[in-house]
Amino acid sequence: MSKEPAGMPITSFTAMEHGTRADYDLVFEHEQHQIDAQADRILDWLGQMAGPSPYRVSRLDHVLQSATRAERDGADTETIVCALLHDIGDIIGTANHSQVAAALLRPYVSDQNWWIVNHHGLFQGYYWFHHYDRDRNERDAFRGHEFYDATVRFCAEWDQNCFDPAYRHSPLEHFEPMVREIFSRPTPGFV
Ligand SMILES: [Fe+2]
Ligand SMILES: [Fe+2]
Repeated sequence: MSKEPAGMPITSFTAMEHGTRADYDLVFEHEQHQIDAQADRILDWLGQMAGPSPYRVSRLDHVLQSATRAERDGADTETIVCALLHDIGDIIGTANHSQVAAALLRPYVSDQNWWIVNHHGLFQGYYWFHHYDRDRNERDAFRGHEFYDATVRFCAEWDQNCFDPAYRHSPLEHFEPMVREIFSRPTPGFV
């Protein structure tokens, strides 16, 4: 059953193989509205991270600490936003939270920032895998990779240490313009 609001133009086809250029123009016009609203959705998802947590800070406070530490260390806006969003996968794809966050960021950020977010969960394992009879140095499979050292640093300085209720981090509103800036970048070639 069609769910389009009354008056909204819709495509002519019931199978994509029968679509026309005019149909796909309609689809991409709608998609652009979705892309334009991406930052709003992200800010909503971040808000959902404010709930109860077994840590001593909420998941939102954790990523706010991460982004604040990145900013205070002189990171650029893109890197600060990656720190802010590195755990957003907790909300939309918990089982592989690193890869979900990385996929969300990929059209908008450098290869290095994407790689760090994508691998941060494995690299964070250095701090806890050994409690479960797992090799805490699993990340060393990537030793020699061009982004290995940067990912170790990300975890050491902007992630594993961001569970401190006494740390004074900036509020989410402070980072909102940065999120909007990064997610307003053009994304040619991504589908
Ligand atoms: Fe994480
Ligand atoms: Fe984290």
